[in-house]
Amino acid sequence: MIEPQTVTVALEGRAYDVIIGRDLIAQAGRMVRPLLKRAVTAVVMDSIVASFHGEALLSALRSEGIIAHPVIVPPGEGAKSFEGLADLSDRLLSLELDRGDRVIAFGGGVVGDLTGFAAAIYKRGIDFVQIPTTLLAQVDSSVGGKTAIDTLRGKNLIGAFHQPCLVLADMGVLDTLPDREMVCGYAEVIKYGLLGDRAFFEGLEARVGGVLGRNTDDLAWAVRRCVEMKARIVAEDEREGGRRALLNLGHTFGHAVEAATGFSEALKHGEAVGLGCAQAFRFSARLGLCSGQEAVRAERAIAAAGLPTALRQIAGHPFHADDLIASMAQDKKAEAGALTFVLARAIGEAFVAKGVDPGPLRAFLIDEGALP
Ligand code: GLY
Repeated sequence: MIEPQTVTVALEGRAYDVIIGRDLIAQAGRMVRPLLKRAVTAVVMDSIVASFHGEALLSALRSEGIIAHPVIVPPGEGAKSFEGLADLSDRLLSLELDRGDRVIAFGGGVVGDLTGFAAAIYKRGIDFVQIPTTLLAQVDSSVGGKTAIDTLRGKNLIGAFHQPCLVLADMGVLDTLPDREMVCGYAEVIKYGLLGDRAFFEGLEARVGGVLGRNTDDLAWAVRRCVEMKARIVAEDEREGGRRALLNLGHTFGHAVEAATGFSEALKHGEAVGLGCAQAFRFSARLGLCSGQEAVRAERAIAAAGLPTALRQIAGHPFHADDLIASMAQDKKAEAGALTFVLARAIGEAFVAKGVDPGPLRAFLIDEGALP
């Protein structure tokens, strides 16, 4: 049994706590009740989370006298669409929630992003609570207020910054998470060490088995450090004018490969981030920004979690270098088509590189196994 730990996201006037621990869902009623003006809320979750944990959360809320309406959305990325948003908004309206009420997003990144965006625009904005049920959502997407849906032109292109008013990261829910999802979440965990904390990275080298094996101490340590780093970066740069872009380490490379595989189950987002981090370090070494040994060490630590580190490991290989570069130029970080990457001088020392020359990038991708 571990004591819950609290990390505060110190945004002026909108500060909120991220509480990390076990058995938090059982205490959710007590933690959420003070945030509610009246004892009513809606719990948005997909049918899978509902079947594993829905009753536990609803009972915990009801035990504090809260009328908790379950709102079930379909599982999978497809829910993050205009249709999914319209359906969810309509269901919240039918519950007659008003601006003083709060909605609870209970699930992984899809439910968090969709519910957060619905909350951002529902009656011009109501507050929401995040109760993330995947490792990836606990260390990344539930904190920081990025909310969005997808369109046919790409993922997360329509959205809003809308911060939650509380995040409850209950490690107990990770017990039922498939191993592949734990590995995907780990890609975002190691990303934090790679981008800004060498000691954390070295700790992960030693504790990868414990984190993936759901050892409570290892998990609590890792989730807490990631949330601390994210909270600090978001408090400094909420709207990604600068430093927050560091959180996109591995995402420009990874996103291009995800797009080339049609965002299919063949390559999950976390796996793409693992691959992308390895590529970002190899590309940094190639440009002479960091040493080859650092790139090899980063790659080994990513591979130790069972994440892919090379294009040839991905179904659909070989990819075309020009297709990958075209996707990279569409990235939300790209400005006027100029390529932006997060590169590194060493493990724990990432920086944002704007205006990267496509020539060396193309040669690098071909050496990585892409077709000319
Ligand atoms: N996932 C990157 C960010 O929240 O900025």
